[in-house]
Amino acid sequence: MKIIAGSDHGGLSLKRVLVERMRGQGHEVVDAGTDSTASCDYPDYAFLVARAVAAGEAEFGLLVCGTGQGMAMAANRVPGVRAAVVSDSFTAHATREHNDANVLCLGERVVGAGLAAELLDTFLSARFEGGRHAGRVAKMGQLGG
Ligand code: RB5
Repeated sequence: MKIIAGSDHGGLSLKRVLVERMRGQGHEVVDAGTDSTASCDYPDYAFLVARAVAAGEAEFGLLVCGTGQGMAMAANRVPGVRAAVVSDSFTAHATREHNDANVLCLGERVVGAGLAAELLDTFLSARFEGGRHAGRVAKMGQLGG
C-alpha cells in the first residue's frame, strides 16, 4: 500500500520506527516530515498528510505527535479525511471497519513503540465493512468532511 507519514518534533522518534517498519513490510511510504527535533507546528504536517490522502496520492496517512490529538483535529479539517486517535487494539480495527478511517493518529507520549506497531498493523489490515456503516460515513461528508 502507499502510505504517507508525518509528525511534529513530539512524534519524530516513533514515526521513524513506524516508517521503517512499514517499509520492511513492503509498503511504499512517503515521509512528509518533520525530520528534525526542532520544535515545529503539528498542523503543518497534519495538513500535508491529510491533503495527500484526500487527493488520493496515498491510501492511508499516519500522523504522530505527542498525543495524536492535535494531529487528528487538524487533519479532520480537510474534507475527505477521517482521522482517528488510537491507543487500544479494539479501536485500531473498529475505526477502519465502522468509520472507514483513513488517517491513523498516534501519541508518542501515550503509547510505547511495541504497542504502536501493533496498533498500526491492526489498522492497516482491517477493512471497512460498508453496509449500514456506509451511509453514516457518507453523512459525515455532508458537512464538508
Ligand atoms: C508538542 O509539544 C505537542 O503539543 C504536540 O506534539 C501534540 O501533542 C499536540 O497535540
